[in-house]
Amino acid sequence: MAFLKPLVSAAPRRGGIGKSQAIHERVVLISDQSVTHMSKPQKIELATWPTPLEPAPRLAKALGLGSDDLWIKRDDLTGLAGGGNKIRKLEYTCAEAVAHGARTLVTVGAAQSNHARLTAAAGARLGLDVLLVLAGNPPAEYTGNIALDGLIGAKIIWAGDVDDHTLEALAQEQVRRLESQGPPAALIPFGGSNALACYGYWDCGEELKAQIPDLAQVFTAIGSGGTMAGLVHSLGADRVRGVDAGAVTDPEVRVRNLLSELTQTAFCAPLNIRLDQVGAGYGYFTEPVKEALKLVAMHSGIVLDPIYTGRAFAGLIAAVREGSAKPGDKIVFLHSGGLPGFFGSQDALRFSAGG
Ligand SMILES: Cc1ncc(COP(=O)(O)O)c(C=O)c1O
Repeated sequence: MAFLKPLVSAAPRRGGIGKSQAIHERVVLISDQSVTHMSKPQKIELATWPTPLEPAPRLAKALGLGSDDLWIKRDDLTGLAGGGNKIRKLEYTCAEAVAHGARTLVTVGAAQSNHARLTAAAGARLGLDVLLVLAGNPPAEYTGNIALDGLIGAKIIWAGDVDDHTLEALAQEQVRRLESQGPPAALIPFGGSNALACYGYWDCGEELKAQIPDLAQVFTAIGSGGTMAGLVHSLGADRVRGVDAGAVTDPEVRVRNLLSELTQTAFCAPLNIRLDQVGAGYGYFTEPVKEALKLVAMHSGIVLDPIYTGRAFAGLIAAVREGSAKPGDKIVFLHSGGLPGFFGSQDALRFSAGG
């Protein structure tokens, strides 16, 4: 559709579509007292903020950190349909869609896409139709995110075994078809990430500044890159540690492009991104992820997902072992959600049940 015009071409991808999109309007939110020196786009609230920041003393000690060194930012508790990081981004992209009169949200993803599930949930909350163009074929069993997509009322088109560009083209075709029949439809980008959506994680960074002023490092998973880019925009590149989940071929380029678009200038500062937790590829259940899931569950009662938060915590464990995250540092782990994906992974279920 016309109002979502890409500005920056995305990095090549392994796992889906990525196009940064223009911020067409910037509006000063005079009701938001924390925003005094900058303008911020409008958003529609889809959750209750701030999310909690919880200490994890037993987990910290199990890792060899001091008992008050490790904190978990609970962005898995963002309310809608099992929660997760995508809600913060959708607050901005949905506001833009609604402002342009959209009646349908169209997005893309893998079969077990957390982003697709939360786009469906945001649509349900706002009274918008949702069309998901998902890679693959109808599954033999409806598990995890796919079951929730259906429950929430999203329509799914299975695109078959297509590459990312074809998936994107199919979604754009659906937008054109819908618009030829009625009111505008909005294409929400792969993973929910464009420059506008990054303000969702700028918001999260601002919450963290208030919740833990002496924050040394925050660890986050990287998929489409918007979560890390937003955190860097708020907290600075030094304090943000990204752990690639393998959804895109060049996560650093994606994060950098988003930051350049956000700041309207080439973003050249070094970024801390680990690439060593992808293993054999995006969908694989790696040994470090198994260790992370077990350690976190047994020492905090919190469940991670096998793709994103599992890899991010595995990256945190590796950083502690290497000494780049150390006792005395205030370390935050961003729990970005994904629990439905746990129930969509036969590998994770079998491993957890001891099989
Ligand atoms: C649970 C979860 N955590 C983290 C991410 C990564 O977020 P981003 O796409 O903003 O890099 C995703 C992306 O799909 C996700 O589903």
